[in-house]
Amino acid sequence: MKLATTLLKWYSKYGRTMPWRDHPDPYAVWVSEIMLQQTRVETVIPYFEKWMKLFPDIPTLAAASEREVLNAWEGLGYYSRARNLHKAAKIVATKFNGQLPRDLTELRTLPGIGRYTVGAIASIAFKMDEPTLDGNLRRVFSRLYDVAEFADSPAGEKILWGLAAQNLPKGKAGDFNQALMDLGATICLPKNPRCLLCPLTRVCKARENETQELRPVLKAKKKVPQYIHAAAVIVERGRVLISQRPADGLLGGCGNFRTQG
Ligand code: ADE
Repeated sequence: MKLATTLLKWYSKYGRTMPWRDHPDPYAVWVSEIMLQQTRVETVIPYFEKWMKLFPDIPTLAAASEREVLNAWEGLGYYSRARNLHKAAKIVATKFNGQLPRDLTELRTLPGIGRYTVGAIASIAFKMDEPTLDGNLRRVFSRLYDVAEFADSPAGEKILWGLAAQNLPKGKAGDFNQALMDLGATICLPKNPRCLLCPLTRVCKARENETQELRPVLKAKKKVPQYIHAAAVIVERGRVLISQRPADGLLGGCGNFRTQG
């Protein structure tokens, strides 16, 4: 049986339930994909639900103030994602009549929408036969094909995007891509992959070669920088002095007690 057929069968039984999966609406898919970058599904779900109530469509989001948008995002982190969503919504409202463009080159020009997001929106929302590649898919394909190339190098990227495209089942790309995301999140885990439960174990080259723990091959990560700060909160007659951080940089646009250090 083809890889995609086996995987889609598994997905119809074990695929996770998520609110945006019941929303074929391109805007909902777009919001969910931006929220899911760097953030776990369980964390995203309540934010997504609140967001869709506050900003149910692109014109409503475009008309909101930056403060309202950042307030709704508060706690999710990586605030440039929210600012880019807002900027892109304004562009879509004025330039594309409030509808996400189906032209993938135009879609790619919007702030915060890169190759991964284009592939996800095109396949899930527009039902196009388009591949995508996020961290989960990178790991799954690296193992299925035992890719020894650095997965985060241009050569590795090229191989992995090629594999994502080559395995795509016609007319079912959205389900296929999301099935791979679920497989990566629940079975093909970075450490201790659950190969005994994997529907693709029989076609997995890394499993055959016992290299699953060595794939994907990644370049060493930079150390997380550590900063020492001193903070003071200025309170006067029950009022707290808060300034707004500059739009770019860490926690850009968020409230900030005055800090020194
Ligand atoms: N991670 C990013 N996008 C996702 C999606 N549509 N389903 C599951 N996990 C995801």
